[in-house]
Amino acid sequence: MAGDSHLEPLEVLYEADGLAAADLPPELTRLYGGPLGFDEPRLFANFVSTIDGVVAIPSIPKSNAVIAAGSKGDHFVMGLLRAFADVVLIGSGTLRSSPEGTWLPEKVFPPAAAAFAGLRHARDRPEKPEVAVLTGRGSIDPAHPLLESGALVLTSERGAARLGGELPPASAIVSLGEDTSIDPHAVVSALHERGHRLILSEAGPHTFGDLLGAGVVDELFLTVSPLLAGNAGQDSRFRLVEAEDLNPLARARTLSIRRHEEHVFLRYELDRGA
Ligand SMILES: NC(=O)c1ccc[n+]([C@@H]2O[C@H](COP(=O)([O-])OP(=O)(O)OC[C@H]3O[C@@H](n4cnc5c(N)ncnc54)[C@H](OP(=O)(O)O)[C@@H]3O)[C@@H](O)[C@H]2O)c1
Repeated sequence: MAGDSHLEPLEVLYEADGLAAADLPPELTRLYGGPLGFDEPRLFANFVSTIDGVVAIPSIPKSNAVIAAGSKGDHFVMGLLRAFADVVLIGSGTLRSSPEGTWLPEKVFPPAAAAFAGLRHARDRPEKPEVAVLTGRGSIDPAHPLLESGALVLTSERGAARLGGELPPASAIVSLGEDTSIDPHAVVSALHERGHRLILSEAGPHTFGDLLGAGVVDELFLTVSPLLAGNAGQDSRFRLVEAEDLNPLARARTLSIRRHEEHVFLRYELDRGA
């Protein structure tokens, strides 16, 4: 694979038995340190956080790049998960924070572009995953290039009215009821109705908190970056879960632990019944 020479494979420190294994192009198996696959349907989230659980610093533009600390391993895993996804789900906060974001596999790790395309082809998936933007209030900029190139906007009736006819023709809008706080089950059902079986959430911690609280998250991929960020309160930092207190606490099972340089890659399965 051209250009991958700078990425050493991820080192596998632990892997649970019996995990699903898709037929990956050999380059992807080598770089990931082994196979990867998913039972379907599945909703899996991906985050990079500091050691103390911070995933965003609102005062810093593109703070996830700061938090990822230049990890090529993290970029590779992000691309690999996008290459598996039927749809990438983001929230309006994440859209706003990435004015040029595309959420395409090859954009985040170009050296594996051909292998990512090969994986999608082998799995009989369209060339690129759909991107779905969740915005109950319709607070998105219709001129964002993602919407120009085509995305799905999941919103409420109020959000749809606010966006009016402003969305570019390449994008579609789906209204999921009156309430601007949309039931995550309705979000997942709307994506399943479009034939999406593997949903990757790259939404921020507010959406993730809602999804988690509703018990619709199956898996979490968490990259821990070797940084500490502190937290002075008043939204100076966002932590992994920004939502109401989870009662009872959500519980997870460790599926795999990998390492690449100073970054640790954790894969968890969430107990949806918790
Ligand atoms: N470190 C990482 O791995 C990582 C990953 C993702 C994002 N981030 C960062 O996180 C920051 C953004 O965080 P965020 O939590 O604000 O982003 P977000 O979760 O992507 O967006 C939040 C917005 O999503 C909509 N939303 C969420 N749940 C909803 C529901 N149940 N019903 C209707 N709408 C819902 C709301 O939009 P409306 O207000 O428009 O209704 C809400 O304001 C950015 O800096 C981004 O870069 C970091």
